[in-house]
Amino acid sequence: MLQIQENVSLKNFNTFGIDANARYFAEINHAEELAELFADPQWLQTPRLVLGGGSNMLMVADFDGLVIRLNIRGIEHRISHDDVFVEAGAGEVWNHLVNYCVGYGYAGMENLSLIPGSVGASPIQNIGAYGVELKDVFESCQAFEIATGIIKTFSKADCKFGYRDSVFKSEVPGQYIIVSVKFHLSLIPKFNLKYGAIEQELAARGISEPTLKDVSQVVSHIRVSKLPDPSTIGNAGSFFKNPVISAAEFQPIQQNFPDVVNYPASNGQVKLAAGWLIEQCGWKGKTVGNTGTWKNQALVLVNHGGAKGEEVYSLSSQIIDSVYTKFGVTLQREVNIVS
Ligand code: FAD
Ligand code: EPU
Repeated sequence: MLQIQENVSLKNFNTFGIDANARYFAEINHAEELAELFADPQWLQTPRLVLGGGSNMLMVADFDGLVIRLNIRGIEHRISHDDVFVEAGAGEVWNHLVNYCVGYGYAGMENLSLIPGSVGASPIQNIGAYGVELKDVFESCQAFEIATGIIKTFSKADCKFGYRDSVFKSEVPGQYIIVSVKFHLSLIPKFNLKYGAIEQELAARGISEPTLKDVSQVVSHIRVSKLPDPSTIGNAGSFFKNPVISAAEFQPIQQNFPDVVNYPASNGQVKLAAGWLIEQCGWKGKTVGNTGTWKNQALVLVNHGGAKGEEVYSLSSQIIDSVYTKFGVTLQREVNIVS
């Protein structure tokens, strides 16, 4: 029987470790419980927040509505020749799924090792790291439409994936709850080792013919060296997106700052490294009250202990202002702000 709790602290449900309360809180263990929940019209009219691992959100206030925590479990796989189809419940921990696939020799997710959070949230911002994005392994997902109670299948095309973007963020926010995701993997690895220090780290370990496990371990090692562990320092990963600007906007920046870190993006656009921009403005490793930016990665805002959501938000606004003043570029927050 579905339980609705009242006045629940979300401190242990968000990786920033912000102490905010939910007015109502429901944990969903089976997709059918969503139909049961919304059979009561009260919940259709109440503000709602869907929660996975809480690793990409900043609570700036108590949530005066219903938090719906997805805990739907289960992983199944089917092999057809060299193709592998893996389907996982929304509440599975993303990195457990990666380890499961790497362990069985199913290739495609190894570069996405150690990303925090749940399977159900992975399509929302099309998670990505080390040259691979979710869309590269995504087959389809099942999502509960709140208004109708119908579970719909979204294909890859339906999801309109972009850099840290999907239809669930851009076109139908808050209208669907993802209950499961199906992935298309392969028994034949196609390694993607070009990004960052992967090749260098493999070479340092004396590995010339890596296995999926080697790549997963190396990616995890690089991530740990750069990013703070949320179990000791509250954070939500990159706080901002890397800005994508036109060639015309880039030209004066490159002229004034010849070292500017940049990558080619689609349609002749240029992607800038937000971490570099923030570091150039003097923010890297800086502490402001209970908050600050991480010493090894300026793009990550942290809670040094006891920070309120407003403090982190206010720091993010100061960073946006100073990057704009120095470079004329407006940073967009990647983290979901819950107010
Ligand atoms: P939550 O934070 O719980 O939710 C995120 C958003 O998705 C919210 O809007 C929520 O309402 C919505 N949502 C969650 N579940 C569902 C669902 N089932 N149906 C509908 N909507 C839902 N991200 C990357 O892309 N690449 C990285 O390399 C990366 N590194 C990180 C490193 C650290 C240390 C941390 C803390 C975070 C990092 N992130 C990274 C961000 C985060 O891991 C991802 O965004 C992840 O997908 C969030 O999953 P979650 O379950 O915690 O989502
Ligand atoms: N850089 C700096 N100073 C910094 C941080 C970075 O100069 O303080 C420079 C680095 O030297 C490097 C460049 O910026 O030249 C890129 O840095 P990094 O490789 O660390 O990656 P990123 O662009 O900062 C992105 C994602 C991460 C993902 C990594 C690896 C975004 C917003 N962030 O970070 O995702 O793990 O690439 O692929 O796209 C997340 O979304 O939460 C996240 C952590």
